[in-house]
Amino acid sequence: MEKIDIKDAYKFVGKEIEIEGWLYNKRSKGKVHFLIIRDGTGFIQAVVVKGEVEDRVFDMYDEISQESSLVIRGVVREDRRSPYKYELSVKNIELVHKAIDYPIQKKEHGIGFLLPIRHLWLRSRKQWAIMRIRYEIIKAIRDFFDKEGFILIDAPILTPSACEGTTTLFETDYFGDKAYLSQSGQLYMEAACMAHKKVYCFGPTFRAEKSKTRRHLMEFWMVEPEIAYATLDDIIEISERFITYIVERVLENKREELKILERPLELLEKISPPFPKITYSEAVKKLKEKFPDFEWGEDFGAPHETYLSTLYEKPLVITRYPKKIKAFYMKPDPENPDVVLCMDILAPEGYGEIIGGSEREDNYEKLLQRMKEEKMPVEDYKWYLDLRKYGSVPHSGFGLGLERTICWICKLEHIREAIPFPRLLEKIYP
Ligand code: 4AD
Ligand code: MG
Repeated sequence: MEKIDIKDAYKFVGKEIEIEGWLYNKRSKGKVHFLIIRDGTGFIQAVVVKGEVEDRVFDMYDEISQESSLVIRGVVREDRRSPYKYELSVKNIELVHKAIDYPIQKKEHGIGFLLPIRHLWLRSRKQWAIMRIRYEIIKAIRDFFDKEGFILIDAPILTPSACEGTTTLFETDYFGDKAYLSQSGQLYMEAACMAHKKVYCFGPTFRAEKSKTRRHLMEFWMVEPEIAYATLDDIIEISERFITYIVERVLENKREELKILERPLELLEKISPPFPKITYSEAVKKLKEKFPDFEWGEDFGAPHETYLSTLYEKPLVITRYPKKIKAFYMKPDPENPDVVLCMDILAPEGYGEIIGGSEREDNYEKLLQRMKEEKMPVEDYKWYLDLRKYGSVPHSGFGLGLERTICWICKLEHIREAIPFPRLLEKIYP
């Protein structure tokens, strides 16, 4: 008899098999017990019928508590009506470990209760589905850049200086000097793209975001491609294909998980290039209809992004933001130096920014000038300025936030469920 994974049950219809797992749920109709078993690869309903098993096995029902680990033996049957599609007619159950008073019940729990038990909450069916979609998206990201001829270059986590401003830096001691957890690998990718042309990094990044929102994590994963000789239009075109590819992969390989999450597919299925594109100035005009006090030059907040992104069915590309609200490295638009050659992409359905990117300032003098305006410690960025001294070329790149993308694709209410162990404002447990 074979030990199988629940995901392979369909191959064993009519056969006796064994599954190593946990009890997810149970109910009884007196002479028939229904056990929902999970083994990490899937969920299946096991049916225990009085008279078809030894009384000893039938009577184990009371003892097998939720999340008790067990090895269960039985015959696989097809069951088209069941959400699990396959069923197990139980022959024997072996209790491995009895779980006592598992805290997560069938009923709805509040987030204040669930977050401190994230280590257990991960076992719940919805969380299980989200993590599997997360994994598919990570694989899709790697496959996309692989097939496009990019080289993976790992950026350091410990850095001597800021990339995205000094207000959200996590500081640490580095042998008596100050070091910071990386906010972005971009500056290092700019160096690497001069060596390899098309590069990307993909790793955790850190921001001490002092705001408590459904879109911000203190630790999140970002993928950052950077391309030598690429313009703003080039990276917009890549982003459109990139986002489309990610969505297609999830639709192709994670249908069941999307169903568990009750994620409507209609809008996801429409995602394909080209995406709608507007400038910041055009966006401000649209915003004024809903927020009459909004002035040109202000940065968009969450409510503004939500409003703009609900005006379209596809992700929305917004270009050319005011220079004043964007990072020092962005290149001004030669046609209007008050704005920079940048783009943000807002996910539809009200999800807001998932991508931020730009063309980079490639002129030594102009970059230096910009850094001085920002009162940056120029000495710390000498290496970065070097890139503009030795064969400088136009180059562009962007960053996509993994958890924001998961949030949208899974249609989650809050970003905390998009990462296994979220780091939230003042919360770092477990
Ligand atoms: O727009 P951001 O700050 O851009 C950069 O960091 C650039 N250096 C990227 C580049 O050009 N290489 O961040 C990029 C993306 C955002 O669009 C968002 O999806 C995500 O990172 N992000 C966050 N996700 C979760 N929690 C936070 N606190 C985030 N901050 C940014
Ligand atoms: Mg941004």
